[in-house]
Amino acid sequence: MKGIILAGGAGTRLHPLTKITSKQLLPIYDKPMIYYPLETLMDGGIKDILIISDPINIGNFVRLLGSGKDFGIKITYEVQDKPEGLAQAFLIGENFIAKDNVTMILGDNLFVGDGNFLDDAIKSFKEGGRVFAKQVPDPERFGVVKFDKDMKAIKIVEKPKEHLSDYAVTGLYIYDNTIIEKTKNLKPSDRGELEITDINNLYLKEGKLDVRLYEHYWLDTGTFEALLEASNKIASLRNE
Ligand code: TTP
Repeated sequence: MKGIILAGGAGTRLHPLTKITSKQLLPIYDKPMIYYPLETLMDGGIKDILIISDPINIGNFVRLLGSGKDFGIKITYEVQDKPEGLAQAFLIGENFIAKDNVTMILGDNLFVGDGNFLDDAIKSFKEGGRVFAKQVPDPERFGVVKFDKDMKAIKIVEKPKEHLSDYAVTGLYIYDNTIIEKTKNLKPSDRGELEITDINNLYLKEGKLDVRLYEHYWLDTGTFEALLEASNKIASLRNE
């Protein structure tokens, strides 16, 4: 299993904080944000990790994390010239993924509370895709899962206008190697992005998307409120 941390993006909702630096380098309590998704992948037993960021900030990630030797892992780096969608990571990372499976995590996503969940999910992974849905008060900000009456996922809709369910797809995705071919055949959406939601729906149509419910603490730190909440949460855990 290879790992990708996607740590580019515009970060417009956090301006002016992100005008001169990357969102994923901002502090969450006592560490730069990217440490948390990095730790999540490492908890999942992943030792070969690709970090993707924009041309301006990529050098700072190298300065911060280097070869990965200090963490006992191997880190490589690639540039995303423009933020053209989450799924673009699989095109940028094609050579890195090679013939393996891949787990991607978004650089601004915090999964806290159960160090074993990803390890378990990866160990039992065979083929298809596996994603993690979380009940949230504001699902419309995310890809939302529509379930049938047996809680079987029927489809995922990106930022839906109507209420489909309270379950958002979190920024952690496990895919088999068909992800590369699937992404190559993907057309950009109306907003000009290669959408991870389109990828998930492709796996769903094949009957190969496992949507797991994530019961622990999860936060997308893309807003000022979430950034502050994340710092407070980590501080309280550290001081327990
Ligand atoms: P978003 O939070 O959706 O986008 P953003 O970070 O650009 O923020 P804003 O909406 O405030 O402008 O992105 C989710 C994560 O994915 C975040 O960590 C940035 C990253 N990302 C990329 O690295 N490349 C991309 O093309 C996109 C769309 C996002």
